Amino acid sequence: MTGALTTTEAAEWWRSAVIYQVYVRSLYDANGDGIGDLPGITQRLEYIASLGVDALWITPFFRSPMDDFGYDVSDHRAVDPLFGTLEDFDTLLAAAHGKGLRVIIDQVLSHTSDQHSWFQESRQDRNNPKADWYVWADAREDGTPPNNWLSIFGGGAWTWEPTRQQYYLHNFLNSQPDLNFHNPEVQSQILAEVQFWLDRGVDGFRLDAINFCFHDEQLRDNPPKPPEEREGRGFSVDNPYAWQRHLYNNTRPEMLPFLERLRSLIDRYPSVVTLGEISSEDSLATMAEYTAQGRLHMAYSFELLVDEYSAQHIKRTVEELEQRIGQGWPCWSVGNHDVRRVLSRWGGPNPSPMQAVMFNNLLLSLKGSVCSYQGEELGLTESPIQRHQVRDPYGLAFWPTFKGRDGCRTPLPWSNEGTAAGFSSTTPWLPVPTEHRASAVSLQEADEASVLQAYRRMIALRRELSELRTGDIRFLDAPSDVLLFERRGPERNVLCAFNLSAESVELTMPGAFTDVTPPGLTPSPAEHTDSRVVLTKFASFFAVVD
Ligand code: BGC
Repeated sequence: MTGALTTTEAAEWWRSAVIYQVYVRSLYDANGDGIGDLPGITQRLEYIASLGVDALWITPFFRSPMDDFGYDVSDHRAVDPLFGTLEDFDTLLAAAHGKGLRVIIDQVLSHTSDQHSWFQESRQDRNNPKADWYVWADAREDGTPPNNWLSIFGGGAWTWEPTRQQYYLHNFLNSQPDLNFHNPEVQSQILAEVQFWLDRGVDGFRLDAINFCFHDEQLRDNPPKPPEEREGRGFSVDNPYAWQRHLYNNTRPEMLPFLERLRSLIDRYPSVVTLGEISSEDSLATMAEYTAQGRLHMAYSFELLVDEYSAQHIKRTVEELEQRIGQGWPCWSVGNHDVRRVLSRWGGPNPSPMQAVMFNNLLLSLKGSVCSYQGEELGLTESPIQRHQVRDPYGLAFWPTFKGRDGCRTPLPWSNEGTAAGFSSTTPWLPVPTEHRASAVSLQEADEASVLQAYRRMIALRRELSELRTGDIRFLDAPSDVLLFERRGPERNVLCAFNLSAESVELTMPGAFTDVTPPGLTPSPAEHTDSRVVLTKFASFFAVVD
């Protein structure tokens, strides 16, 4: 029941996995150029393993002009010199495996950099061997782009190529042209790039913007969306991108057979997993569709990466997904390199470390795999970024109403001393805010009551109780600011309760229980009797119910 994984669990390690997301530029700078790198990750593997996580997901480290900080790949098989060499990657992989950690790499399949040799060739004329590798279209009679599609990063989704006298499609920056997946040669080439890394021994792939691979071949206009339905899911709400229903520029039906092709390749490599990133008109439905039998192993979307925060929102999202997902599998995250840090997003203007502990506990108790973003284990807040410090092109385009994604990407504070808080020996690519020094790893290691130590204890509890890893989930009625659910196993259930408010709340327990709340979490529930638990502000509470 507790402790060791069953054989099925071991083969399907990903179902219960906690995946630690490493933003490579900001974990640790080993060569002193102000930017994190692969040897830096290798040097910090001891720390990552000490958290108790199962795997790391490393953001793109491939050759790139870095217009979108690596999500614009110019050579899928090369390591960018900023981050090291292929040998550095092999060393990292072997060292991670030596510590029992799996390594998931990020694959950007839907688009490339405009500096990629494929695009350089494709843009030359309409007859070259790669002429149809990207999405090219003639101008309309009046010279305007072929349809109304928009780029998520601002402006239209089409850019004119003078040499070819045609427009090309880009769902993101104009230096990130979209590949034409309708062309079977493109599909085969992309699978060959993926296979390169499979053969190197990686344990999985996080698939960037995976529902953007295919576009509507008829190039139909997206219909408008009424103001009351506009919302930000992975993009800023004041972005006109939110004014359309994205029916034709992404999430096309041709994607499903391609996912099946990808899966047959992956299945030739035992235990390798795929994790898709999804942002569509109905992301929960797309997650279910993309993780159905024979497609991806798991997927995440932006439902818990938004500003909206309440017990109701979390309950509604998880229950809705449960109803739709069937045999598919979710991966939950409450923060990543694309959104404001959860402690600032959900915790209000002066968040407390107790909230950081609660957000981590909550994430680690939901049914599904988990992506935990570097710095969440320390309870980092969003870093304040001044206009002159902005590096993110998305922030530059929408300043000041949207400040971009730099505030969640600042370097990890390893120490409360030194120029870059122990991250680098020189000025880092983004500043470490003074307030992050108080959350430095060195300080939290020494403090049993820190967010970091609570994080470790919560992962240990998840390892100990199989119900928290693979049990079903059922929500129970609770006061409005309390999120209350059971993770149900064949023999017993684990009750999980979170008080989202700053007031104490009393819970009536469904029956006899044993309190298994990890010791030292701040704060522990103030008191409980046989049938009552008082949850102090921002408390988490776990109990085994027979
Ligand atoms: C990544 C972003 C990136 C975008 C374009 C994503 O969703 O997470 O960081 O800018 O794809 O590749």
